[in-house]
Amino acid sequence: MLGLEQPRSVLVTGGAGYIGAHVCRALDASGYLPVAYDNLSHGHAWAVRWGPLEIGDLMDGARLEAVMRLYRPQAVIHLAGLIAAGDSVVDPTRYYHNNLAATLTLLDTMRTCGIHHLVFSSSAGVYGEPDQIPIPEHHPHRPVNPYGATKAMVERILVDFSTAYGFKSVALRYFNAVGAAPNGDIGEAHPNETHLVPLVLDVAAGLRPFAEIFGGDFPTTDGTCIRDYVHVCDLADAHILALSHLDRDVRTRAFNLGSETGASVRQVIDMAIKVTGRPIAIRMRPRRPGDPAMLVADASLAKEVLGWCPGFATLEQQIATAWDWHERYRTIDVRRAALSP
Ligand code: UFG
Repeated sequence: MLGLEQPRSVLVTGGAGYIGAHVCRALDASGYLPVAYDNLSHGHAWAVRWGPLEIGDLMDGARLEAVMRLYRPQAVIHLAGLIAAGDSVVDPTRYYHNNLAATLTLLDTMRTCGIHHLVFSSSAGVYGEPDQIPIPEHHPHRPVNPYGATKAMVERILVDFSTAYGFKSVALRYFNAVGAAPNGDIGEAHPNETHLVPLVLDVAAGLRPFAEIFGGDFPTTDGTCIRDYVHVCDLADAHILALSHLDRDVRTRAFNLGSETGASVRQVIDMAIKVTGRPIAIRMRPRRPGDPAMLVADASLAKEVLGWCPGFATLEQQIATAWDWHERYRTIDVRRAALSP
């Protein structure tokens, strides 16, 4: 009998968030149906454009189970969670509830529904202060903040679930996600923004008076923190490759995702000045708690095993797409409202 084949569905927790929405966009482009599951505490309904939005909380096992039974996803991509490393030092219990306890609810519900493939959004935060740069995946886990600790703990849980219950999972350790879809579809729009690049672009756009630099006394060339900035579309592509990997490999594995190049806070600000052509005033501030001095990825494993091939390798390309989105998005009233006191 002839008939239209249904796209294979994938449940994306946090699918209305910054990285989640870009993952949904990439899933759609690869022929999957992305089902976004999000409580909209940080994400946006308008960011869910490539499949259904199911509003729900990860702690709500009954709701999760109903959504899984409705769509019968072949896999779950799990991005929902709190993401601000500095905030996690100040308020750790929220991080352990949202990132750890909620993930256990998700995993148990997956078991109940017979879903055993998971791509997990992990982080460079699992490494803490690294012994070597670039950082390989086998570097010991020594997180320096509760956010990184929750990511390391979930990775450990995934190994145990693999041994005991036959789960297959890929943990993708993101370094610093930046940028936006180059066609202006979507971009970064966190409420209560804490990330460097969007904050700096707010200053260039005249929405904030100055950018703050947290720490000028790190053991780096210019004294400011060094991070590995990686484009959000390249991150999103890695999730599609990870799904294919789950179809052919039986092991639970972790991969670093970074551009393998470090940029200091000052270099990011200088590049933002160049890309935007606008002045960006700065204020020096004390170090933020829980910030390692330098994080740069060795991403060779993702390239070799997954076939990952990042396309936005330079900071200039990354910030240019972020600025393009920022210029479009800042005209939206909701953003101005969110920024007003
Ligand atoms: N920074 C400033 N001023 C700001 C904001 C940030 O100087 O106003 C500095 C931070 O101290 C840090 C760098 O800019 O050195 C980047 O900070 P972000 O807040 O943009 O990002 P983080 O490095 O704290 O964290 C990000 C993600 C995490 C992830 C981590 C991995 O938010 O989820 O990268 O490196 F774990």
